[in-house]
Amino acid sequence: MSSIIRCEGLTKTYTGLDVAVLNGINLNIKKSEQIAIVGASGSGKSTLLHLLGGLDTPSSGEVELLGNNLNQLSEARKGQIRNDSLGFVYQFHHLLPEFTAIENVAMPLLIGRMPREQALSAAKDMLDKVGMTHRVEHMPSELSGGERQRVALARALVTEPAAILADEPTGNLDRVTANQVFNLLVEINAVLKTSLVVVTHDLTLAAKMHKQFKLEDGKLAAFS
Ligand SMILES: Nc1ncnc2c1ncn2[C@@H]1O[C@H](COP(=O)(O)OP(=O)(O)OP(=O)(O)O)[C@@H](O)[C@H]1O
Ligand SMILES: [Mg+2]
Repeated sequence: MSSIIRCEGLTKTYTGLDVAVLNGINLNIKKSEQIAIVGASGSGKSTLLHLLGGLDTPSSGEVELLGNNLNQLSEARKGQIRNDSLGFVYQFHHLLPEFTAIENVAMPLLIGRMPREQALSAAKDMLDKVGMTHRVEHMPSELSGGERQRVALARALVTEPAAILADEPTGNLDRVTANQVFNLLVEINAVLKTSLVVVTHDLTLAAKMHKQFKLEDGKLAAFS
């Protein structure tokens, strides 16, 4: 089976820090594969996700996204591949406050130049999948925390990306809501055969994924 995201010998040293945050990371994420990354605060989890998503550049090593070596692409092409093949979910929803739920979800499609009616229809379908049918016209400020995260999931999934990169997607929710949102994320990704990389502090949630890795001293080690 071919890789969706692959990285080899990835290192990252920030200027001003004398030790490498990442020090030789190898990872191969296949289609439909769901992996969890855990690690102490400051261990480099967000840094790794940013590198895998092409949002930051490594100090050395390579990231391949659907066979494209990110080091060799222009910023414009990288942005295009990112918009077409990745979905991002963060601890805080980052919904645009002046747009409704459905407009927020349609946004990646509109950016990708899909006609408005078609984009809104696809956004509506994805909001149905995350159980938000009854809230499509609400503004983010009119939604609960769990509802906002559901909308953020719908926005990440609406382009039917090859992979979702999620950084503490439920870190801001109470346990019951976190469980519901996390289960939804796992289930939808399984149905759509999307690869999923989730950073979480929660070992119970991490255990729901196919593979678990711990980031420590700049290295990634499998555990279960
Ligand atoms: N832009 C930056 N410039 C300099 N140092 C940075 C930068 N971003 C992160 N760091 C440092 O790199 C280390 C790893 O940060 P990172 O955000 O990846 O950790 P994390 O594992 O995601 O932590 P948390 O669980 O708290 O989110 C930290 O020591 C942090 O201070
Ligand atoms: Mg982080």
